[in-house]
Amino acid sequence: MSFSFKIGFFSFLLLAVHLQHCNQTTHATKEEHIEVSVDSTNAITSVDTEAFEANSNVTRTVLITHCGSCHQSTLPTQKAGAIAVFDLDKNDAWHEDLLEEHLEGIGNRLLNKSDITEAQKEAIATFIEAKAKQLEHEP
Ligand code: HEC
Repeated sequence: MSFSFKIGFFSFLLLAVHLQHCNQTTHATKEEHIEVSVDSTNAITSVDTEAFEANSNVTRTVLITHCGSCHQSTLPTQKAGAIAVFDLDKNDAWHEDLLEEHLEGIGNRLLNKSDITEAQKEAIATFIEAKAKQLEHEP
């Protein structure tokens, strides 16, 4: 699977989240739209660190709720295989062991959940896209 295909996939996720969001009829709360450049030639410098950390934290919080039992190293229910993929107890460094092939699995497992807000889905999709670019540039 080529990288450009994957970026296409992640952009699609992001678009799907945007569309869902626009279709919502609930009253609008204050939103922050975080722009991520799709031009991968300049990816490292164009991905704003603060926005990346904010989206990373939202993703981690959602993961703790749904996946923490096995993916948190301080819990007795943790699984070594799960910790090797990502450890939610490593705080901001929780994603440092992730490989590109894990990102799609995280997206698929989180983005279809009904108890996640649209703002959270948008942050997760943006995080996944930014992390994919980071991995492409720093394998
Ligand atoms: C019951 C324990 C458990 C829970 C809960 C769990 N995982 Fe995992 N996960 C594992 C284990 C163990 C592995 C190591 C690979 C394997 O054995 O399948 C793993 C591997 C993974 C991988 C890498 C392999 C793959 O299948 O892509 C991803 C990505 C992943 N988990 C995401 C998640 C997400 C997202 C959630 C929450 C929605 C979650 N996991 C919840 C136990 C769990």
